[in-house]
This record gives sequence, structure tokens and C-alpha cells, in this order.
Amino acid sequence: MEQRNRVSVIGTGRMGSALASAFAKAGVPTTVWNRTRTKTARLAALGARVADTVASAVQAADIVVVNVIDYEASDRLLRTDEAAQALRGRILVQTTSGSPKLARAAGEWASEHDVAYLDAAIMATPDFIGHDGVTILYGGPAAVFARAEAVLRALGGTPVHVGDDVGHASALDSALLSTMWGGLFGTLVGAAVCEAEGIALATYRAHATAVAPMMIAATDDVIGRVQARRFAGDETTLASLEAHFTAFRHLVELCDAHGIDPSVNGGFDRLFRAAIDRGHAPDDFAQLYTLVRPGAA
Ligand SMILES: NC(=O)c1ccc[n+]([C@@H]2O[C@H](COP(=O)([O-])OP(=O)(O)OC[C@H]3O[C@@H](n4cnc5c(N)ncnc54)[C@H](OP(=O)(O)O)[C@@H]3O)[C@@H](O)[C@H]2O)c1
Repeated sequence: MEQRNRVSVIGTGRMGSALASAFAKAGVPTTVWNRTRTKTARLAALGARVADTVASAVQAADIVVVNVIDYEASDRLLRTDEAAQALRGRILVQTTSGSPKLARAAGEWASEHDVAYLDAAIMATPDFIGHDGVTILYGGPAAVFARAEAVLRALGGTPVHVGDDVGHASALDSALLSTMWGGLFGTLVGAAVCEAEGIALATYRAHATAVAPMMIAATDDVIGRVQARRFAGDETTLASLEAHFTAFRHLVELCDAHGIDPSVNGGFDRLFRAAIDRGHAPDDFAQLYTLVRPGAA
């Protein structure tokens, strides 16, 4: 490993430890710092150096990876004269979860302090880090990403550059989590329906896995239609809004009959009804996008 690929990881909680451990195991010279020093012991056993201060951790590295609970904690650690001075000329990779607004503000601070900055979104839990299946998104200048890419490969998978806008990794993170929560909240309702109807959850589990490929295909279809603004029902429409709503009404009735909380379905119900009222019954499901994002048509 070349000298310019030395890494420091600031923050060794669950995720930070996984990141530091992956770097160390890949042979990247790794330094760590954590507020609670005892949490660095396992990393020291893997060969990581433990720094006494944030500034000395920064000085020991070419690429500084931060992973703490939030941006407020990160700012408190990095926006000191000593740490900012040490960061000058280095690459800072922020992997703490945040928002596009926080990422852009951090990007501005970094350029004012002559720090090369990438803002990352980790689309995985710590157990995936260092393995093939991991996806980590990076926003920021392509040239900075190109300098860091080889060492970031130690985290597993293929590092994904999502563009020069430092806010785009966290924006995409939120969009992907929206897809995830749609599925997970729906799953809670599905489990409640099964239990109320006396269906074993093992049966629900088996069938949920079986329909997963269909869900992936339908998600791709909706995004593609929104992208092309193909909202009208056509020969490739998989199910009209009316067909969706007919099946959906049965779900709502079933939930009501069993006293299942209506909060999750309530939002879907409002959107379906508003679209039908506007005469969109024969249209594609993707037509609902014009209600989710008014003015999108
Ligand atoms: N866990 C996941 O599956 C996952 C997935 C994607 C993204 N993330 C993101 O990764 C970040 C860390 O999550 P985590 O699961 O690793 O959390 P965690 O295990 O609770 O670790 C939190 C880390 O932040 C540090 N910290 C908190 N407040 C601090 C402060 N005021 N000053 C200095 N350090 C402070 C903690 O230090 P101490 O050890 O001293 O408390 C610890 O190193 C979060 O932004 C999270 O959203 C996590």
C-alpha cells in the first residue's frame, strides 16, 4: 500500500469500527480515534494505531473517514483550529448520516479550509462492510473521488460516485430508504393481516420472498415510467389505477374488520381516491406521481 493511502477513521462505534476493521484487514495503514477510547481495543488488535487526539489522527492520514452519530458531533470534532489546520490538503470522507443541506454546508466549509471533500451514504449495516454486497455512494468532485477510490475499495463492493454535488449521496440515501420503508411498513400491515386471519407468519415469510422478484420489477417499471412521464394507461401497463384501487379497498376493509391501525394505508387511500376523483382510473399506477409531486406532469 502506498504512503498516500493512509487512512484515519474518526469514530469507532458500530459502523466506524466496521469501516476501520475493513481498512486494517485490507492492509491499509489505519489510525483510529474515538471519544470512548476503550472501543478502539479490537481495532488495535487488528493492527490499527490509536491516536490520542482528533488532530493527530488527521495528521497520520491522507484520507480521513468520519463516522459519528450526527453532523453536529462531527462538526464539534473537526471544526477546531487544530483539526482544520491538520485537514488542510487532505481528503475528508464524511460517512455520518445526514441531509443534502448538511452535506453542502460541510462541502462549503471544506473548500473554505482547503480540504478535499466527499460526502458518503452507506447503504448497508456494519456486517456487510468489507464484503462484496456492500453499496456505498459518494458525492463530491470526480477528481477527489478518483484520488480516494482505490483505498475506498477496501470497504467492499464497488464504490459508487453519484456526481459532483456533495448533497446527492444523502439525497439518494433518503430516496432509497423511502423505498425500503414503503416495503417495511407494508410488511408490518401484512403480518397483522396474517395473524388476524390465522395464517402462520412462516407462510407469510415464504410467500413474501417468492414475490420479491415481482416487487423489484414493479419498482423498476414505476421509476422508468416516471422518468419517461408515461402516466397514461397503455399496452404495457401492468395494472390500471382502478385495478390497484379495487384490490387495495379489500385490504383496507380487512384491516378495518380486524382493528388494524389505519395509519399506513391512510396515506395510500387518500392518493388513490384523489387520482380516481380526477378521472385517472384507467391510467397507470405511475400517474399517482403527479399527486406525490404536484407540478411534475
Ligand atoms: N449502524 C448502521 O447500520 C448504519 C448504517 C448506515 C449508516 N450509519 C450511520 O453511521 C453513523 C454511526 O452509526 P453507528 O450505528 O455506528 O452508531 P453508534 O454505534 O451509536 O456509534 C456512534 C459513534 O458516534 C460517536 N459519538 C456520538 N456522539 C459523539 C460526540 N458528541 N462526540 C464525539 N463522538 C460522538 C460515538 O462515540 P462513543 O463511542 O464515545 O459513544 C460512536 O463512535 C450514524 O450517522 C448512522 O446513521 C449506521
